[in-house]
Amino acid sequence: MAESVEMLMQELDEVHDAFQQEIRGVKDLALLDDVRVKYLGRKGRVARYFSKMGQIEASQRPQFGNRLNELKQELTDAVASHQQSLHSNNNSGPRDFDLTLPGITPTLGFRNPLMIVMDEIKQIFANMGFTVETGPLVEDEYYNFEALNVPPDHPSKDLQDTFYLPNGLLLRTHTSPVQVRTMECQDLPIRIIAPGRCFRKDTPDATHSPEFHQVEGLVIGEGISLSHLKGTLVAFARKLFGRQTQVRFRPSFFPFTEPSAEMDIYFDERLGWLEILGSGMVDPNVLDGVGIDSEKYTGFAFGMGVERLAMLKYRIDDIRHFYDNDMRFLSQF
Ligand code: PHE
Repeated sequence: MAESVEMLMQELDEVHDAFQQEIRGVKDLALLDDVRVKYLGRKGRVARYFSKMGQIEASQRPQFGNRLNELKQELTDAVASHQQSLHSNNNSGPRDFDLTLPGITPTLGFRNPLMIVMDEIKQIFANMGFTVETGPLVEDEYYNFEALNVPPDHPSKDLQDTFYLPNGLLLRTHTSPVQVRTMECQDLPIRIIAPGRCFRKDTPDATHSPEFHQVEGLVIGEGISLSHLKGTLVAFARKLFGRQTQVRFRPSFFPFTEPSAEMDIYFDERLGWLEILGSGMVDPNVLDGVGIDSEKYTGFAFGMGVERLAMLKYRIDDIRHFYDNDMRFLSQF
């Protein structure tokens, strides 16, 4: 016996109203899903009417079917939008966790003190008008030694001291090759620093590391003299270690500078005078080698070990701390 379509239509309205009533009170996603299953599930209150289609008089089926589909769509949409609003409320409304608990602080990394000092050095020279140059870590004999006036039998070329690669190239033992590369391709005057990594066959201990960092400096122009060298380096030392820092120059030797000097700073009563860099007037042979007229132009150069400066500045007692990546060390700077 066919049920009256009017009655069924009225029942659909009731289902609709009951659903609206119920969903209004739903405050969490689990309850919402219960409501969804109750109305829209395979055996839910809406599905029940689809199975009644067969009992409806053929002429009235389309009308009822349309209404039923509409209802299903309406409830489906309502569930979806309720779900949305529950999600966004969760981010601003009442929470189910204790706001007074301490948060989880993400662990930030730390800058290696070596890089802090490196940046400080760069900044000091940038303020004096120097620009930054870089060069390759893998060099050849020409740039690392020959062009720097290092004689073929010089001890620093020894297999004991230099990392030679199987192809005849080598790992640069200092940043001085960047001097040569810069003079080859920059117009005069030149005023650059060249920070970077260097390598020497040293056995690691508290003061030696086979990999270390230097900052090179080079100034070439007309009328550049030893007093420019001294003025620049004294200003640098006082900027890095403090205005009162006492500085002295000691005669020294480097194949690529003449005359050459090492600069010391007076550290404290216990440590006394400490060498912090090598320097000198660029040897005329080096200038001539790159095609710069050594009668017309002069210049000075210097090179410093960044590890050593950082160890002095922060009173670090072992060079290996820089490379261990131990947070107990790194977090102190
Ligand atoms: N290259 C030298 C070294 O590694 C330092 C230096 C650079 C000295 C420039 C004089 C001029 O010891």
